[in-house]
Amino acid sequence: MTDSVHVTLEGDDESTSVRVYDDKGDVSTDDATFRFSVDGGIRDDSSGDETDAAAGKRETANGDDPRRIAPLADVPTNGTLRCEARRDRRGTELILRREGSEVSAWRNSCPHKPEVRIDPGPGAIVRDDQLVCHEHGARFECDDGVCTAGPCRGDALDSIAVAVRDGAVYLTDDRFDSCRRLNE
Ligand code: FES
Repeated sequence: MTDSVHVTLEGDDESTSVRVYDDKGDVSTDDATFRFSVDGGIRDDSSGDETDAAAGKRETANGDDPRRIAPLADVPTNGTLRCEARRDRRGTELILRREGSEVSAWRNSCPHKPEVRIDPGPGAIVRDDQLVCHEHGARFECDDGVCTAGPCRGDALDSIAVAVRDGAVYLTDDRFDSCRRLNE
């Protein structure tokens, strides 16, 4: 499944990679800048075969509210719940973590290497109330997502707005229209 486009620009002396979530942007190395735009947006391959009926069934599973993600109790504290937020046909992976009755959400992508997921599937590593990237060990605060140690120290995870209402977690981020969990 793809939730973005991975762009690599190779120059004479260096290679730069970014994960792209928007329809256009640019990637730069010391000696070149590559500008691009994607007609029709970035499409999630997994959505290609989805029928309207399947989409409807998914929304019904969300309690008829496409922004309802999961019951609060299903969001772990010693790990993360992996979800997919959508706008039109574009999907973006995010991860949720609970602290008491509060839930935080971030894009499932490490600032050090955006193509690396913080949660590769079974849940992100959580140690001492910090998320830990499994690839090179960067540590991120669970409140503001700021990296406190590792190769991307000072950078931050991309925060996604969610809210807890009536014992469930809802997507409130205006960049997306709906959300579904990936781990049942
Ligand atoms: S990819 Fe996450 S710390 Fe390097």
